[in-house]
Amino acid sequence: MEYQNLLLAESNGIFRITFNREKALNALNGQTMKELFHLFSVFLPNQPSLKGVILTGAGEKAFVAGADIKEFLAIEPGKGAEMAQRGHDVFQIIENFHVPVVAAINGFALGGGCELAMACHLRIASENARFGQPEINLGIIPGYGGTQRLIQYIGKTRAMELMLTGDFFTAEEALKWGLLNKVVPMADLLTTAETLLIRIAEKAPVAVSAVIASVNAYFNKPGNGFLEEVNQFGRTTQTNDFTEGANAFIEKRQPKFTGN
Ligand code: CAA
Repeated sequence: MEYQNLLLAESNGIFRITFNREKALNALNGQTMKELFHLFSVFLPNQPSLKGVILTGAGEKAFVAGADIKEFLAIEPGKGAEMAQRGHDVFQIIENFHVPVVAAINGFALGGGCELAMACHLRIASENARFGQPEINLGIIPGYGGTQRLIQYIGKTRAMELMLTGDFFTAEEALKWGLLNKVVPMADLLTTAETLLIRIAEKAPVAVSAVIASVNAYFNKPGNGFLEEVNQFGRTTQTNDFTEGANAFIEKRQPKFTGN
C-alpha cells in the first residue's frame, strides 16, 4: 500500500511515523485510518529490523487534532458505530503491538489524537502540547476508546469532568495526572523518544513483548466498556445535534444544540 498521509523514516530499527496533514492539524481522516491499520497489521510486522515505533505529527502545532470533522457529515445514517469500531480495531492493534510504540506529542492531541496517544505504550510531549476530549462540543462522545482509556490513566473523577466539559489541559497537567511519561522542549522531543526506545531495544525482545501483554491484560476487565462506547458513539451520530456540531465547527460558529 502506498501511504499518502503517513511519512516513514527508519534508523537502527526505530521507525518514525509522521502524520502528514499539517494544514488539517493532522486530523485522522478515513484514508489515514486505513493507512494506520495497514502499517501496524502488515508493514511493520514484516520489518525484520523492527525494534520500536514513534508516532508524531507534522509541524509544531498539532500531534493529531482528532478525527476529521469535515468527513463527519458524510457518515451514513446508522453507520457511526461502524466508524467507531474501525477506530477501535486500529488502536487495539497499536495497544497490543509486540514492540513499544511511543507517542511523541508535538502539539494538540485532541479527540481521536488524545485517544491515539493513549493507545500507545509510552507518551512524551513537548511543552506546548495541549490535550482534550472535546467531542461533547460536537454533540458526540469520544469514539476511539477515550471513555475507557482516559479513566485508566487519570482516574474517573478528572476523566468525567474533562469529557463532560470538553476542556483542554496542558502538558504539565497531563504529566502531573499520570497521562505522560515526560515533558521536554520541542527541540528534544524526537531524540528523547528515540533514546527511550533504544534503551528498551537493549532488553530481551520476548520479555519486552511479555510486559506489554501482561500490563494490557490488567485492564481487560469483564463488562465491555469499549463496546458500550462504540454503541453510544453510534447513537450520538444519529442526532441532529451531531450534524449541527460538525456544521458549526466547519462554519466557525457556536453550535445551537436542541436535544434532538
Ligand atoms: N478535523 C478536521 N479539520 C480540522 C480539525 C479536525 N479535527 N481540527 C482542525 N482542523 C482544521 C480546521 O478546520 C482548519 O482548517 P481550515 O484552515 O480549512 O479552516 C485548520 O485545521 C486549522 O485549524 P483552526 O483554524 O481551527 O486552528 P486554531 O488554532 O484556531 O484552533 C484547534 C486549533 C483548537 C485544535 C481547533 O482546530 C479545534 O478545536 N479543532 C477540533 C478539535 C476537535 O474537536 N477534535 C475532536 C474531533 S472528534 C473526534 O476525534 C471523535 C472521536 O473520538 C473519534
